[in-house]
Amino acid sequence: MTDIDTTELSWDDWDELKSPRPDTNDFDTVVERAISRRGFLGGALAFGSGAVAMGTGLLSSTAVKAAGNAFDFTPIDVATDFDIHVPEGYQWKPLVRWGDALFSDANGAYSAETGVDLAMSERVFGENTDGMELFEVNGKEVIAVNSEYVNPKINLPSDADGTPRTADEVKLLQNLQGVTVMEVAASNEGYRIVQDSPLNRRIHHNTQMTMDGPAAGSLLVQTTADPEGMSPIGTMNNCGSGRTLWGTYLTCEENFNGYFGATGEEPASAGNERYGIGAEGRYAYEKFDARFDIANEPNEPHRHGWITEIDPSDPNSTPVKHTALGRFKHENAAMVQATDGRVVVYMGDDERGEFLYRYVSNGTYTEGGDTSALLSDGVLSVAKFNDDQTGEWLDLTPETTGMSAEEILVFARMAGSAVGATTMDRPEWVAVNPTRVEAYCALTNNKNRGVKANAGGDETPVGGPNPRETNRYGQIVRWTPVDEDHTASTFAWDLYVMAGNPTVYDNEYGGSENITEGNMFNSPDGMIFDTKGMLWIQTDGDYKNEGDFEGMGNNQMLVGDTQTGEIARFLTAPYGAEVTGLCWSADLKTMFVGIQHPGGSWPDGEGKPRSSVISVWREDGQTIG
Ligand code: FEO
Ligand code: CA
Ligand code: CA
Repeated sequence: MTDIDTTELSWDDWDELKSPRPDTNDFDTVVERAISRRGFLGGALAFGSGAVAMGTGLLSSTAVKAAGNAFDFTPIDVATDFDIHVPEGYQWKPLVRWGDALFSDANGAYSAETGVDLAMSERVFGENTDGMELFEVNGKEVIAVNSEYVNPKINLPSDADGTPRTADEVKLLQNLQGVTVMEVAASNEGYRIVQDSPLNRRIHHNTQMTMDGPAAGSLLVQTTADPEGMSPIGTMNNCGSGRTLWGTYLTCEENFNGYFGATGEEPASAGNERYGIGAEGRYAYEKFDARFDIANEPNEPHRHGWITEIDPSDPNSTPVKHTALGRFKHENAAMVQATDGRVVVYMGDDERGEFLYRYVSNGTYTEGGDTSALLSDGVLSVAKFNDDQTGEWLDLTPETTGMSAEEILVFARMAGSAVGATTMDRPEWVAVNPTRVEAYCALTNNKNRGVKANAGGDETPVGGPNPRETNRYGQIVRWTPVDEDHTASTFAWDLYVMAGNPTVYDNEYGGSENITEGNMFNSPDGMIFDTKGMLWIQTDGDYKNEGDFEGMGNNQMLVGDTQTGEIARFLTAPYGAEVTGLCWSADLKTMFVGIQHPGGSWPDGEGKPRSSVISVWREDGQTIG
């Protein structure tokens, strides 16, 4: 393993390297399964060839060839270059890049050679943009946007191996992650940042937070610095996003585990094993910031991995970590109001073989009413999918799990295992259709499907919404709650799409019928509905354009018509980047799209690559979503 450059690994691959999942199946079993799987497919070679096989979970309504003509743009070709491409009649430009000033005193803080200095690191836009939402605050437009992680080699140019060597270097990295709240405004030259807006704010790994819900204040979250267990510091690895019905931002803490390490003896904890928390942190925080040293502060990791609420209208507000929504590697949070007024939040846990969750508030939401208990008092459940295209939500309670209320939330993964939740192919974003009572989850890929158990030892059998062994392309599962009620305990499901490569495979790896040579992609990740009920799909996958991925090109953003099944490619990212995060201006005429970890020197054309949010608009000035 010594020849692997761990600074270049994705979080997912880093986790796998540091805490490999158990090899519960020996080689013979793997082969046996592969053979029996091929045998099954021999009789039902349906995925790429027209017929819809029984038991595949693909409803016939999705079996439509993607012609691209349901969309008001001409779908674009794949790209392999270091640029952005959008359809004819559309334009794009950067809105904000890593290092751009949010406040005028930070103008010029970014240097193409050295990046950003510590002194200005809280005054600029952070690195590696991710989920985002736009809010209207007293007539102003405000975007809250995540900065998921940093590339240490880019931020610490003097460190050959990209590992911080001082407390200041750690602090620099900490400040360039987290969340940015920034006012934006239209101008003659498109949207721009409103520097020095009183609403502009950086929230990062050292920002004071508070907690609520059943696990707040419990023994499990108490530390030396916070014996009450109510005042955690920092939000980290902020991945996808969500928005509440009452106009606040939800930032979702994903791979928080990687920030912790141990300088002394590692505390024994089944939770650490399940969550991938170990002796070596990814950024050496534990060596320079005692809070991240689990040998001294074993409970500090329990204070991260939550859904955190930020009020973008009040720059002095204290962000709140909502323990009632469970602790896991949160991708995003899709909130919808049920017909009886209760608040429902769907959430994915992005790790191979982990689960899909649902939270239902006990109270109901009314506009202008008290919302303070809606995310602190409710029922957390986990999804179980049956092969017959039905499913159910299993409540996580002391009775069903044998765990205490606090343990259920802090160790939600173990609670999910206790009730027999379905191990999924890495649940990424969930999106709720605003025009129909249904929801979608991107299952990005899972090379361990049918091969390895998850970290809790739960088997990952091929079947249900995870129908392909060593799933390298991903799929999108859709569920419809019974009685059109998002609080119902049962649902029906199907697969909206199985990504694949029909030019390489004439079997299930060729993808579902709505995948063609003209729209193929891999690893769906970001997923957001527009106001018209069109599903925008962003990818974070293999962009090498070779082998299994030949013809797919760079990561991309597509749009799907969920009624016809058609999917069309709208945007391609620069080589190396993933596309993640999407929101719209208040007038819907500008779309904001996140471009994370670009390669080369994008977008400046020289110097360092700079993760950016771009604006996209139509030349004819019409709306775009
Ligand atoms: Fe941060 Fe699962 O993507
Ligand atoms: Ca993601
Ligand atoms: Ca991803």
